[in-house]
Amino acid sequence: MSYFQYRDGVLHAEGVALPDIAAEVGAPTYVYSASAIEDNYHAYADAFAGRDVAIHFALKANGALAVVSLLAGLGAGADIVSLGELRRALKVGMTPDKIVFSGVGKTRDELTAAVSAGIAQINIESAPELDALDQVARKLGKRQPIAIRVNPDVDAHTHEKISTGKRGDKFGVPYDEIASLYRRAANLQGVEPVGLAVHIGSQLTDLAPYRAAYGRLAELVRALRASGLVIKTLDLGGGIGVQYNDETPPSLTDYATIVQETLGDLGCHLAIEPGRSIVASAGILLSQVIYRKAGGEADILILDSGMNDLMRPSLYGAYHPILPVNEAMRDATLTPVDVVGPVCETGDIFARGRLLPPIAADELVAIGVAGAYGASMSSTYNARPLAAEILVRGGRFDIIRHRQTIEALFADERVPDWLKPPKRKIA
Ligand code: LLP
Repeated sequence: MSYFQYRDGVLHAEGVALPDIAAEVGAPTYVYSASAIEDNYHAYADAFAGRDVAIHFALKANGALAVVSLLAGLGAGADIVSLGELRRALKVGMTPDKIVFSGVGKTRDELTAAVSAGIAQINIESAPELDALDQVARKLGKRQPIAIRVNPDVDAHTHEKISTGKRGDKFGVPYDEIASLYRRAANLQGVEPVGLAVHIGSQLTDLAPYRAAYGRLAELVRALRASGLVIKTLDLGGGIGVQYNDETPPSLTDYATIVQETLGDLGCHLAIEPGRSIVASAGILLSQVIYRKAGGEADILILDSGMNDLMRPSLYGAYHPILPVNEAMRDATLTPVDVVGPVCETGDIFARGRLLPPIAADELVAIGVAGAYGASMSSTYNARPLAAEILVRGGRFDIIRHRQTIEALFADERVPDWLKPPKRKIA
């Protein structure tokens, strides 16, 4: 169910009226529902109940400390891709044995931090990265468990910018090179190869590519085992797609069935790294209309949030629902409008020709399904401070990130002395 519903004529997040949040915190503001996050997490836990499957939340989707803390409390582990994400996970008390490190270009500093912390697994994406990790770990006197990420050469049928498992994509090790790299890893002192990892892309709404990729993975496991190598664990990558508009995402039960059918008889410990499907539907971006102006073809609704706050529409042409906070609006006549942000870029547009009621200046709107890859991808372009973030639980709400101050925007910057204007002499 959605935790964003109209009650008494206004849109609520759980039991909290969005205008109350705007009155206290302003806009633009990300608002997350704790119950929605819990439900989404439990859907995964239930789908795999009774099986040896660990759930590692992909922090890149939403790394807010409060969100990660909530998920850690439910038993989730973390999938991280940088030192910053490692520190976020550790900061909220996630134990290193629940942390897996993915990513195509981990630096030696990042590897050192991860090995020192004693994280569960590092997913290796190339031969040079394997060598770097081996050196780092030996220097620390450790043997780091690793998986090798397979590029299975499978088309994920998703947006080209978030498709990662085709030959030629920058991710993973080509399928036919896995056996030799795995064997090499098995002979290194600083690493212990424990298994394989695969991630073919994000926002998959079709299960067929999973079946293809996991089927190829299973073949590989059998071949590697036949040649005497030990494979104990398989990391299956990100979670399933979500509904933004008219997509029909697969059910988790069907996904779990595919996992069982393709990999169930291998006796491996399994891990999955869902991000989007845990947090996307749990968040909205609360925005206020600055102006409504007549445009060439459609009216233009100019919001106080822009592509710096939520870049998915401008980067991927992604659809996000846009809802008026005032319910009365919903019965009004719909006309096509362009919904845009204030950033000085033609691409700063949330929706073109979207059918909306006559929303006017000062009114609030909610940009929906924005809990994943929203705040985490935001920037300060146009010197716009990062939006505030709120976590709602029942009838209460807490600020989990204050709106960035203008001072904080340039607090780390310095003007060299030679550029400072000379003090004017007073005669
Ligand atoms: N594991 C790995 C290795 C990944 O690369 C990703 C996402 C995930 C897990 C989590 O996948 P999910 O469950 O969220 O689908 N910014 C884009 C999405 C980029 C996804 C990158 N990797 C967007 O806003 O659509």
